Amino acid sequence: MQFKDMREYLAFLEEDGQLQRLDVPLRCGRDNRDLQALMRYLHNEKNIALILDNLEDYNTPDVPLIFNPFGTRERTGLTIGIRDPLEAKATHARILGDRASWHEPRLIDPAAAPCRDVIIREADVSLDKQIPHVWFGKEGPAYITNGVGISKDPETGKRNVGWYRTALLWNAYHPQGGSYPEGYDKNHMAVYAYWNPPMNQIGNHLFKASQQSKPLEVAFACSCDPAIHLAAATGLPYGEDEFAFAGGLRGAPVELVKCETVDLEVPATAEYVLEGELFFAEEATVGWHSNVAGYYDRFHTIPLMKINCITHRRNPMWHATIEMVPPFDHNYIGMLPVEGEVLSDLQQKIPEVQDIVVTPSMMYIVQLSVDGARKPHPEFGKYVLHAVWGAAGRWARTAKLVVVVGPDVDPYDLNSVEWAIMTRVQPVSDTLMNPAGQAFVDDPSAPITAAGFPAVSEQMGIDATIKVPERFTEYREVSQADPEDVARIAKLLRPILGE
Ligand SMILES: Cc1cc2nc3c(=O)[nH]c(=O)nc-3n(C[C@H](O)[C@H](O)[C@H](O)COP(=O)(O)O)c2cc1C
Repeated sequence: MQFKDMREYLAFLEEDGQLQRLDVPLRCGRDNRDLQALMRYLHNEKNIALILDNLEDYNTPDVPLIFNPFGTRERTGLTIGIRDPLEAKATHARILGDRASWHEPRLIDPAAAPCRDVIIREADVSLDKQIPHVWFGKEGPAYITNGVGISKDPETGKRNVGWYRTALLWNAYHPQGGSYPEGYDKNHMAVYAYWNPPMNQIGNHLFKASQQSKPLEVAFACSCDPAIHLAAATGLPYGEDEFAFAGGLRGAPVELVKCETVDLEVPATAEYVLEGELFFAEEATVGWHSNVAGYYDRFHTIPLMKINCITHRRNPMWHATIEMVPPFDHNYIGMLPVEGEVLSDLQQKIPEVQDIVVTPSMMYIVQLSVDGARKPHPEFGKYVLHAVWGAAGRWARTAKLVVVVGPDVDPYDLNSVEWAIMTRVQPVSDTLMNPAGQAFVDDPSAPITAAGFPAVSEQMGIDATIKVPERFTEYREVSQADPEDVARIAKLLRPILGE
């Protein structure tokens, strides 16, 4: 199924009973905690998407706030019209590995592009009035979390699209007690572009632009067709276009329109677009920031972008989300692309890799289709561990904890994974310790660099496959009830004991 835009996806969720509108007053200004509490409540008790119509302390009260739209594995699969999470993951991995299934994006006439219904040019740009500012917990700044950042390699002209956060400066606490230059709250924001080391591809572009003594032209397209967000959260090989991959995921080309002030193209049905220039030498220190590992980062020092133009749809909508102790809204749409990236790469090299699950806290579980003596060679589990750390995409090399299991272990069920670890692993013999992996950028246990985030981390791999033939010649018999017997007994007892 193709969604034209975020609105069609939301209408689908509403029809499906997975979205409600809410006009209960909730506070979203700085120093309020309502929205973080709402996120926890939804994930503890009633995991639906919401549209919040009655926010208080809100700088753009007419703009409804989309809340928790991606908050389950099912809703994440539905971004590309597939309800079953396993099928969604397999489809993502298959399309990722098959360039012939991608569709090049199509350029349309600017007059037909809803994202240009309203155009606000340079002198009139005032982020504090025109862009929603939403706080969830104790963050210093309000963050934009619904924007895909679009830029081109300054040497080759090839496009990159990545889902990156930015920090707005209006009404922001400075984490070190300083202040931001006067007027920057109206037309500047700080972008999570990591150029040193360049951990994201916008960071590579920014570094290359700096070598040419130029700023980098960037556009952020906010709240697009959700297939575009899924593609933008996927780490494609450098130089490949996420819009073409999104076309493959949605089964039809993404429609783009030329920007007003930069030589870039953006999705025509985005709710908002911010155009401008990203500077290498001009940075801002922003924080506190609530991160995906579930901790507050005290500060990050990241590049500043000057906004030269804002365009938006008539009656626009805005999506905001927070990273906090998992799970939370975009946890799942962040994980599925990582699963797809690693699965696609590994399955092309190692046919015995059946499935990969990344948990909300980013533990990687690799399920093989074979175990014991059917493994291609003894110690095959360790070979797979190395392959994960060397797999394509940005995230595999940051996998801090990887567990390899056989086909009888359910990678979605942590009880099952724990059972395999406890009964098939000798901790010294069946683990690999990597002293110098790449850090998962929000891991608070890894040493921090001057920019406020870690670059290097130790990693651990656990081979929880059955150690035949490496250690034993015989298999132990598992003591477990046959599912058919369980179903028979359940049928017998349900009328007596109740459901
Ligand atoms: C809501 C959300 C926010 C994200 N924010 C960032 C970010 O600020 N910086 C970053 O490097 N990656 C961020 N990511 C992950 C990237 O989108 C993902 O790694 C993507 O593949 C990066 O694209 P790239 O490899 O082309 O740089 C975020 C993902 C999601 C779902």
